[in-house]
Amino acid sequence: MFDFTADPDLPKPERYRQLVSAAAALTSGETDSTANMANVAALMAEFLPGLNWAGFYRLVDGALILGPFIGRPACIHIALNQGVCGAAAKTGTTQLVKDVHAFPGHIACDAASRSELVVPVYRGDTICAVIDLDSPETGHFDAEDAAGIEGLARALNGRI
Ligand code: SME
Repeated sequence: MFDFTADPDLPKPERYRQLVSAAAALTSGETDSTANMANVAALMAEFLPGLNWAGFYRLVDGALILGPFIGRPACIHIALNQGVCGAAAKTGTTQLVKDVHAFPGHIACDAASRSELVVPVYRGDTICAVIDLDSPETGHFDAEDAAGIEGLARALNGRI
């Protein structure tokens, strides 16, 4: 059994430090990328309050395809010219969207989503996936969240 319980009173940077540490430990020595994404999706849901969706889209043959996640069923295929996830994978940059209704082309997989954070994950120098977090609260994510998930993505380089 793994016991990675997050303290609800932790300041955000410490919360992310513990999340990255737990993810590094859980994926250490495991070469199955699906298993690693599944465990990291579970950890994100455990450590990060206020989310309605947390998971991965994988970059396969030039488009994104749904990976392991926690949340409601989601759209399976996303082209790189579509949505927040497509923008992150196409540009290789973090997309911090305070209000998804103001983002042209946003894909509403869950009508409850109001803000979104998407961070590319690299395998070496090549993007292999994106981490996608959704919140039902407008403006839920800030620069500390972006930095925290970018740290998580760096820890997963070569593990998914
Ligand atoms: N909203 C995303 C699609 C994925 S769902 O949020 C799970 C987007 O616009 O890319």
